[in-house]
Amino acid sequence: MKILSIETSCDDTGITIFEAKGGTTKASFKILSNIVSSQDIHAEFGGVFPMMAKREHIKNLPIVLDISLKKAKLTKSKKPVDAIAVTYGPGLEPCLWSGIVFAKELAEKWDVPIIPVNHMEGHILSVFAKPKGTFNISLTKKQFPMLTLLVSGGHTELVLVKDLGKYEIIGKTLDDAAGEAYDKVARMLGLPYPGGPALSRLAEEKRKELGDLFEHENENRKGFQSMSERRLASATARARGIFQQKNIRAEQGHTLEIFPLPRPMLKSPNFHFSFAGLKTAVLYGLKKIEPLNDAKKKMVAMEFENAVIDTLLYKTMKASDKYGIKSVIIAGGVAANKHLQKQFRQAFGKKNVLLPDNALTGDNALMIGIAGYLRYMQGKKKVPKPASIKANGNLEL
Ligand code: KG4
Ligand code: ZN
Repeated sequence: MKILSIETSCDDTGITIFEAKGGTTKASFKILSNIVSSQDIHAEFGGVFPMMAKREHIKNLPIVLDISLKKAKLTKSKKPVDAIAVTYGPGLEPCLWSGIVFAKELAEKWDVPIIPVNHMEGHILSVFAKPKGTFNISLTKKQFPMLTLLVSGGHTELVLVKDLGKYEIIGKTLDDAAGEAYDKVARMLGLPYPGGPALSRLAEEKRKELGDLFEHENENRKGFQSMSERRLASATARARGIFQQKNIRAEQGHTLEIFPLPRPMLKSPNFHFSFAGLKTAVLYGLKKIEPLNDAKKKMVAMEFENAVIDTLLYKTMKASDKYGIKSVIIAGGVAANKHLQKQFRQAFGKKNVLLPDNALTGDNALMIGIAGYLRYMQGKKKVPKPASIKANGNLEL
């Protein structure tokens, strides 16, 4: 069957058309077109204004649709697809509505069903996709349970994936999401929106300058019982360790300014996160080291990134120890972070970490189509009446 999927939960307008067959256990996909139009206007304002993003979606959707159909060699007038999948939450409600209304218009015109899709389920399943061509997804019982770390601008969650459609959120952020913290700290450093990629580039430059200092640290981790204990030891050491690094650098004749940051909730007995305090610590820390210059920005960026990743990794390892998990999915915009990818691969082993293709870490309609198709088949093609489909900004998994 052919599916057209629509994603408008935030500031990316995405439409994908693919052909799928095989059902839930042996699904195969052939992408006919896969387009994401990112709204640049928000960079100027340093964040996404929902009403402005909604206007852009309404403007973009018909244009993206025309390009998508043309690329897929399909025509609008005939019934070009068999179903439409659309994100109905979570996200910015005005934006979600623009996609839903558009989907309803098309569904009525073409007389096809609408499959409402949870954006976060889309992110989880994005790790099994390729951005173009053909690919297969075969989910077998023995792969479960998996653990997903969902890290985006709006979410930071640890999700136990018991089966397709069976999710349990075992931990989440009590305040800011990881991506949001990146964006806010990036803003303090005068970096453009969205701040994650820019901040992470600075952190990487600093890491290169420091060179082998981080290698020493790996040595110290050996000898602990479990992976998560090792991680806790290294994260705690790192929270203090910048002082040791200072001494090492001093011995080597270098000077290194210090910017110690907390690793929030590392020792709490649950799998929750909190990034608001870390953000505030950066704010106060920045005041102490005024005036800011490029060298200081790099140092802050690296320390901030280390604090975030230490926390994400430690909690994920702890959960993985508890639930006996072998493979970990990392999905959502922050999954694009190279240092995070490297640290997780080091900790869990490369083949046990499932990451989306670089082109699919951000919001896209392909992941929505995949989740839509698999759930449609799993639910024996039962779907709600179009009139009952509503945007839900706080939709949970
Ligand atoms: O999933 P996504 O595209 O949109 C939401 O649903 O939120 O995630 C966007 C978030 C932004 O906060 C952005 O700064 C962050 O992902 N991000 C990154 C990186 N690339 C994007 N954060 C850290 N490092 C990156 N390389
Ligand atoms: Zn997203």
